[in-house]
Formats: sequence, C-alpha cells, structure tokens
Amino acid sequence: MGEGSGAVRVGLIGTKFMGRAHSNAWLKVGRFFDLPRAVEMHAVCGRDKIETPAFAQKWGWRHALTDWRAMIADGEIDLIDVGTPNDVHAEQSIAALEAGKHVACEKPLAGTLADARAMRDAARKSRKCRTFVWFNYRRCPAVALAQRIVASGRLGRIYHVRAAYLQEWGGPDTPLVWRFKGDVAGSGAHGDLNAHIIDMARFITGDEITEVVGAIEETFITHRMIPEGAGAAIKGSADRGAAKPQAGKGRKGRSTVDDAVLFLARFKGGAVASFEATRLATGNKNRNTIEINGERGAIRFDFERMNELMYYDATGEAATRGWTTIMCTDAANHPYAAAWWPDAHVLGYEHGFVNMAADIIRMIAGGQPEVPMPDFEDAFRTQCVLEAAIVSARQRRPVEVREFK
Ligand SMILES: NC(=O)c1ccc[n+]([C@@H]2O[C@H](COP(=O)([O-])OP(=O)(O)OC[C@H]3O[C@@H](n4cnc5c(N)ncnc54)[C@H](O)[C@@H]3O)[C@@H](O)[C@H]2O)c1
Repeated sequence: MGEGSGAVRVGLIGTKFMGRAHSNAWLKVGRFFDLPRAVEMHAVCGRDKIETPAFAQKWGWRHALTDWRAMIADGEIDLIDVGTPNDVHAEQSIAALEAGKHVACEKPLAGTLADARAMRDAARKSRKCRTFVWFNYRRCPAVALAQRIVASGRLGRIYHVRAAYLQEWGGPDTPLVWRFKGDVAGSGAHGDLNAHIIDMARFITGDEITEVVGAIEETFITHRMIPEGAGAAIKGSADRGAAKPQAGKGRKGRSTVDDAVLFLARFKGGAVASFEATRLATGNKNRNTIEINGERGAIRFDFERMNELMYYDATGEAATRGWTTIMCTDAANHPYAAAWWPDAHVLGYEHGFVNMAADIIRMIAGGQPEVPMPDFEDAFRTQCVLEAAIVSARQRRPVEVREFK
C-alpha cells in the first residue's frame, strides 16, 4: 500500500448503478489518462452468487466475491471502492481503513451524521490511507472550470448561490426501493441530491456554509408499493440484466424519507444561498443546476447541458454585455478535456467518474488532483450542512452548522 510503484489494485463493493459507473471508470481510466500507476481491477463484490461472477466477467474484474469482509481481508487490494447503499458506507469504509486500505466511498458520506462522524474519525486515525468521496459533478469540465473562474477572482465578491437538483422519478408509482427507506438511505432527495449541490456550492465558491436560516422538508407520498424481487434500480436506470423493481400485489409500506427538501443558507464570506432538492419536480429529469452571482460577473451550470458553462462578465462593454456559452471541451484550456476528444466532441455522465478515477490514482501515487478532491473530512462538512437543514426544518429555527462536530 502507500505510494508504491506497481498497479493500484482495486476492490469494488456494489454491482448495480454505481457498480457499473465505477467499473466503467476503472476500465477506461488507464486508457485515456497517462497515470503514474496502472490500475488493476482486482475484485468485485456483490450479493448474488450468480449475478456477481457474470458482472465480473462482463466488466473485467479478476475475482468475484459475495462477502465484502473477505474482500477487505485480501492483502493484495490497495483501494476499496464503496458503491453500496448509505447505511453500509460506514461499516465497510471503516473496516477497509482499519485493514490499511485507501477508500473511495459513494456520496452522501453516510445516511446519518453519527456514521459520517465515525468515518471521518477513522480516516483521521489512519494517517497512511487516503479517502475519497464520489462527488462526481466536481469533475465535469464545466463545473471544474467554474471553480477555477471563481478562484481567479473574476466574479469578485459573491452575493448569491442558487442551487437546485430536480428529478421527477419519485412519483406514486415508484415502488418502495431502498431510497425510500429511512433506515437504509438516511434521507430521501436531501441526502441523494442536496448532498451533490451542497458539495458543488462549497467546491465552486471555496467557501463554507455557516448557517441554515430556514428549511422545508416534505414527504408527499407516504406509502408505496412493496417491490417484488430483489431489484432496487431507480426508475429509468439502464441497469440491463438486473431485476427491475416491480410493484408487488397490492401490499404497501411506509416511505420514511423526504421527497423534497428546500433550505436557505449563509456562507462565511457573506453570500446567501438557496438549495432545493426533489424527486417530484415534474418535467425535470436530472436537472442539477447552480448559479453564482458576484459583483463582477456570474456563472451558471445545468447538468442537462453538461458540456457548457454560462459565464457573464459584468465588467465588459455595456452594449455587448451578456451571457456567454462556453463549450468546455478545449484541451488547452479546460480541465480534463485534454484526456478526451477533439474540441466539441462532447462528454457524458460517465466521464466525470473516469476523471475522478484518474485523480484518485494520481493522489495515491503522491501527486495532485486536477481540481480539489473531497475526502472524508471534507464530505463530513457537507454532511453537517445536510443535518443543519433537517434540524432547521423539524425544529423550525435557524441552525448554525458549527452545532455539529
Ligand atoms: N455519485 C452519483 O452521482 C451517485 C448516483 C447514484 C447513486 N449514488 C450513491 O451510490 C450508492 C449506491 O447507489 P446505487 O444507485 O448504485 O444503488 P443500487 O441499488 O443500484 O446498487 C447497490 C449495490 O449495493 C449492493 N448492496 C446493498 N446492500 C449491501 C450490503 N449490505 N453489502 C454489500 N453489498 C450491498 C447491492 O447488491 C447492489 O449491488 C449510494 O450511496 C448512492 O447514494 C451516487
């Protein structure tokens, strides 16, 4: 382990939505990026004895396991990649850190603040091991460029951050998959979607949220059909070959998570912010948006047009001043673009994961990521903001983020 020179041997837990996204990233990263160390797709762990070997063969994993503890005990593995539901992130990540492995864990860091804190503490204790959290949107070239623009001071003082992550798949016909179970997911749209935009807002501004001033948490659909079979893919997922959740024969169970959470917040640097996450925003498929308004300019991003960053230069000549659409695919000027295709041969969802895999390998080899990488310490701060919003909504009061440590 450590900064050695051989291949980084990866062990992945989870074989569904993120299992596929991460497998694709580990498979592609060494082919598109010149990395200081190679990647070996050593082992994948699923729960199904028949599906898991088939998954391993399809994606090029050398070994297939159904016991994640056996994977963590494998002395050959350097990095454990956690792509499982939120309730097991802590148990799996902490065990991996205690076994001396680097850990790349999916977001949100955990379903609960207590789990997230335990993960942060385990990461602090294990000084040799690096931790990474898959806040993949940081590594869309347009979002990474937004971070660089703000860091360069071109927007000047930041006044407003306006972030919304809107999806529509969580209607009444969507069965009671794990994402609607509080004991597994921790929260609903909040941990799923607000986690991403809180991270993006912190990343792009380089500033910290200090206070949640007020919040609304709403569960519109309190009972959902209990699915038949083990499938748990989200509606619309192209998880081909996997059992899709089908609503069962009339039996319903209680949804114990929010469908939507909205909140207002303040940043340390003085900016005010609004955040909105819902899986019931009819008409919006995967609309992850952020706008930042500063005294000298503004930027705007919408994941549904992920190759573009909108930039407004308020210092330009008044007669021609307006929003500029930047196609963020220029190898010489845009983060990550040099690894991919000629200008304007656009990227997709999966490229953010490949870009992140490249930065993980660079960092394990002792180098620097292309843009700042969230570790468990950093993701814990996002988790504290999530918690502050929930406390604010339930207790109907302003909540300082420093209440949570
Ligand atoms: N970064 C992103 O954009 C993004 C997108 C979707 C999901 N996620 C996150 O990724 C994680 C997984 O979500 P998903 O959509 O892949 O879920 P999923 O339901 O599609 O897959 C979960 C996988 O974990 C396995 N699993 C479940 N419980 C397990 C356990 N106790 N031990 C071992 N394996 C177990 C399942 O068998 C399955 O293979 C979640 O934390 C989710 O929030 C992140």
